[in-house]
Amino acid sequence: MPLTVSQAILDRAANGEISTQDADRFRKFVARCNDELMTHPVITDNRFCRWFATGRADREVVTHFIVQFSVFSNLFLIAQLLKTINAGSLEGMRASKEILANEIGVMFNKPGPDHVDDPEREGDPDIVSIQGSVDGGTFRFRAAHFEWLLSMGEVLGLGFNDMGKRRHGSPATLFFCDQLAAIYGSEDPNIAEGASFAVENWAAAGFWKQLVAGLDAFRKRENLDLPLAFFTWHDRIEDQHAGHVMDELEELYFTDGFDEEKFLWGGREMLDGVQAFWVGLDEFRIAAAYEGD
Ligand SMILES: [Fe+2]
Repeated sequence: MPLTVSQAILDRAANGEISTQDADRFRKFVARCNDELMTHPVITDNRFCRWFATGRADREVVTHFIVQFSVFSNLFLIAQLLKTINAGSLEGMRASKEILANEIGVMFNKPGPDHVDDPEREGDPDIVSIQGSVDGGTFRFRAAHFEWLLSMGEVLGLGFNDMGKRRHGSPATLFFCDQLAAIYGSEDPNIAEGASFAVENWAAAGFWKQLVAGLDAFRKRENLDLPLAFFTWHDRIEDQHAGHVMDELEELYFTDGFDEEKFLWGGREMLDGVQAFWVGLDEFRIAAAYEGD
């Protein structure tokens, strides 16, 4: 779905807050984002996810997929920490810390269904909130996203030392994780912001739903008690986040020192990295199908 310039910027131009030239410049920039980023195949045509959603993945492919995802989930912490350290403002640092702290197990503190009487269920991704802030939130080991993946792995016969380490990553997965650290975690805020923007649009492209559909079909067919909440939780949070992407882009664009070329370069490079991850998974499932014949 192409990005559209929000009404807010037109209003700001109309009431003189920004010049019509600035509004025009921004409009052209959004058009470039559409041409140069939103057309990337990882956003428009993710073959692995499209195939996975049909529910045809067998145990070997699902197991490989979960292991690769667990490596990404753990190594993402490095990229997110770099992004936090390299943030260009205190607000940026806090926004990055929100994600980092939440990843490792600090729950968002919005009062709601995650406040449960049953302590056994605290940190359960089925009920953990997707809104609020980690500021004042409770830390639970069990609320770490990696632990949600561990509980999936357990059902598939994977132990703690079978998942999440660099040594478990395929070359494609490791390339993706290293690009995350280098670009998403870049010291240059323009490059890092371009990468962030790319990652957000990739995540909003609907792949979580495809993964949930495929995993649900798999667990029913195999009659497995496979918890899907790692995936359903991320799908829920993406749905609510997608609406903010344009506001964030607008704010960034009018910040001093914004560099359009670096931003787009960071975005493209990051999308190529993301693409490598999915192509790696796609190649594995194709090879597994041939071996199975
Ligand atoms: Fe996560």
